[in-house]
Amino acid sequence: MPDNKITTAVFPVAGRGTRFLPATKASPKEMLPIVDKPLIQYAVEEAIAAGAENLVFITGRAKRAIEDHFDSNHELERELDEAGKNDLLKAVQGIVPASATCIYIRQSAPLGLGHAVLCARRVVGDSPFYVHLADDLIDARVPCLKQMREVHERTGASVIGVQRVPADETEKYGVVAVDGFEQRVGRINRIVEKPKPADAPSNLGVVGRYLLSPAIFDMLESTGRGAGGEIQLTDAIAALLSKEQVNAYEFDGVRYDCGSKLGYLKATVDYALNHHSLGGNFADFLIDVADELSKTRKAGNQ
Ligand code: UTP
Repeated sequence: MPDNKITTAVFPVAGRGTRFLPATKASPKEMLPIVDKPLIQYAVEEAIAAGAENLVFITGRAKRAIEDHFDSNHELERELDEAGKNDLLKAVQGIVPASATCIYIRQSAPLGLGHAVLCARRVVGDSPFYVHLADDLIDARVPCLKQMREVHERTGASVIGVQRVPADETEKYGVVAVDGFEQRVGRINRIVEKPKPADAPSNLGVVGRYLLSPAIFDMLESTGRGAGGEIQLTDAIAALLSKEQVNAYEFDGVRYDCGSKLGYLKATVDYALNHHSLGGNFADFLIDVADELSKTRKAGNQ
């Protein structure tokens, strides 16, 4: 992978989002807000911070809300302007910078994450690219994809974002084995999709951040349906391991699994507490709630 400049980010947003039904019946889970921004906007901001200019959304049913979110809305802008609501006007105008291009590709059927990534092949071409799963929200001082780009600049290889996961939760993740770890980076020698704890090669779980060599596309073309009858990105990465170096990177940041209800609620609480105008009042509210809860618990224990 000689070309280090990464300008394309792929956002697979065509999943069914069954864990969030009925909220996701008619609108994508990536449009769920954390305080006042949808998950997909956090995703785009992270990719842009890592140098992405081409934003490729792999969409399925109910794609309209995402397209509308990143499109301009002249009527709304005029109304905000006339009402003198300049902060809100800036917020809606600044969702994507003018230098970025949004591209929408329809995944014909939800055949899996690997299939969704393959749909981006023509647009990505022959350069390394990012894949970002918006339901994995990562709060980090240096945006996670930017950290991964720095690793790629050092090593020239693909980079997969990983975190240490509890031993009894390996079945929720792709899990990697590495040849030693140095400065949070280790060469992957094995990757397994959702192993049972007894079969897991380590506790390093893959989260939704990938910086991939374009060689992944040939692997995806020849990857058959795997777990759940879907074309798995993990299987294509496993095939790539025999051709190229692929590194795991233990990123620095806090990850929220916003595809699950509990993870989504935790993210909402933490982001609300850190919100510039809301944080103080929300903290007061939470303290009251916590006081009430502990009183109720104490009474229950008596
Ligand atoms: P998930 O495994 O989280 O599935 O997909 P899901 O359908 O989104 O959610 P649940 O499990 O039913 O609640 C991982 C990522 O891959 C995308 C999803 O949009 C999500 O970002 N994806 C998955 C696709 O784009 N296409 C697919 O066919 C499958």
